[in-house]
Amino acid sequence: MLTVRAPATSANLGSGFDVFGVALETPADVVRVERAAETTITVTGVGSQYIPEDPEQNTVGAVADALDAPAHIRIDKGVRPSSGLGSSAASAAAAAVALNELYDRGLTREELVPVAAEGEALVSGEAHADNVAPALLGGFTIVTDDGVTQVDTAVSLVACLPEITVSTRDARQVVPESAPMSAVVETVGHAATLTIGMARNDPDLVGRGMSDGIVTPERAALIDGYDAVREAALEVGATGVTVSGAGPTVLAVCHRPDRRAVAGAMVDAFDDVGVESRAYQTAVGDGATLHRG
Ligand code: HSE
Repeated sequence: MLTVRAPATSANLGSGFDVFGVALETPADVVRVERAAETTITVTGVGSQYIPEDPEQNTVGAVADALDAPAHIRIDKGVRPSSGLGSSAASAAAAAVALNELYDRGLTREELVPVAAEGEALVSGEAHADNVAPALLGGFTIVTDDGVTQVDTAVSLVACLPEITVSTRDARQVVPESAPMSAVVETVGHAATLTIGMARNDPDLVGRGMSDGIVTPERAALIDGYDAVREAALEVGATGVTVSGAGPTVLAVCHRPDRRAVAGAMVDAFDDVGVESRAYQTAVGDGATLHRG
């Protein structure tokens, strides 16, 4: 038996819509695999009741198919589905690493990115690799049609997950089809700033570079209390705040000693608008890790 832990991820980071992603130290999914004649899947953990165990409908089943690697697969969900924290990507990445090893397929982590993205496509309808790339490779990733670029970094983050539902379909529908050149130019500047910030492990630059006036304002409007939560986090030291993926998680970047205060301020601000939430005090971390047994 093989066990793989694959992390939650946060895509977009404001200025890098459908391009940027980071692996988070916590939370994570744990996937266990054993060889079998046919794929079977069991799912436990947070939000597991929403995840189909039929291999034809499960992201992990699609990965097993793509690798021609039938197995008994047990998924222990630590990443809540529909949280904006790459829940299906974590399972898909974990399964890809585990089954690649179990069947000795010999694919590199980079080569597993499109395989895991196929699994994602099954549940989301589109094969975005901006969550599976950091789940597999760790650190900060840039995904384009030309491939994946990755850099290790350890910037501190707070991911505050409110108990509200934002449909991924709604979150994609509010994305504008076009943007004024002035907004594009501004966003390119921010994206470049954020990239240098990640490479230098500098939360001030990363926070400044998260700013985005094209997609984030539209998505923030779908999250009750977003503006108040953002303000509260900035007041106690966050250097930048944005929507994590399609939401509803709100992601803040900060200096490590400020994490506790930022987490508390975000939870309190959600509470003030009647929304319960949970804040993960985390950081950019490693990609999927493999254990034998
Ligand atoms: N980049 C994607 C989005 C991430 O924001 O819609 C979720 O798949």
